[in-house]
Amino acid sequence: MEQTFVMVKPDGVKRGLIGPIITRFEQKGFVLAAIQLRSIDRALAERHYGELKEKPFFGELVQYLTSGPVCAMIWQGEHAVENARSIIGKTNPVEAAPGTIRGDFALDIAGNIVHGSDSLASAEREIELFFGGAVAASAPVHL
Ligand code: CMP
Repeated sequence: MEQTFVMVKPDGVKRGLIGPIITRFEQKGFVLAAIQLRSIDRALAERHYGELKEKPFFGELVQYLTSGPVCAMIWQGEHAVENARSIIGKTNPVEAAPGTIRGDFALDIAGNIVHGSDSLASAEREIELFFGGAVAASAPVHL
């Protein structure tokens, strides 16, 4: 079963949105395989967003990600990467449809509440980075 990496970013944690975000993933039918509330140091933030290091906003992005605890999760389900991105919504909250997480909870791209892997390869890389590799869901639910 496919797994994807999802992270509630510091502003989402500060605003008390871990619960509502988990609820949306559970309601969609995902199974939570792993979760950790943790801080991220500069080195991990730079590795996580390594593909964006030439972007003008890279410094701001790293600063934002290291500004407080994040909630890192592995969610499991059919087409996990695509389904997660569909409930998270477009990167820019201005374009994210109402009913998506960013459409309902975020105002601007620099503080878009949550990250979700954009491909299977990214999911594998990010799960390795944060959890040291795939973690089997302990109680998979088949509805
Ligand atoms: P995320 O889905 O975590 O993946 C890359 C992140 O870069 C993205 O969410 C945004 O938080 C951030 N990002 C993308 N474009 C911009 C931008 N123009 N200005 C600031 N941050 C951005």
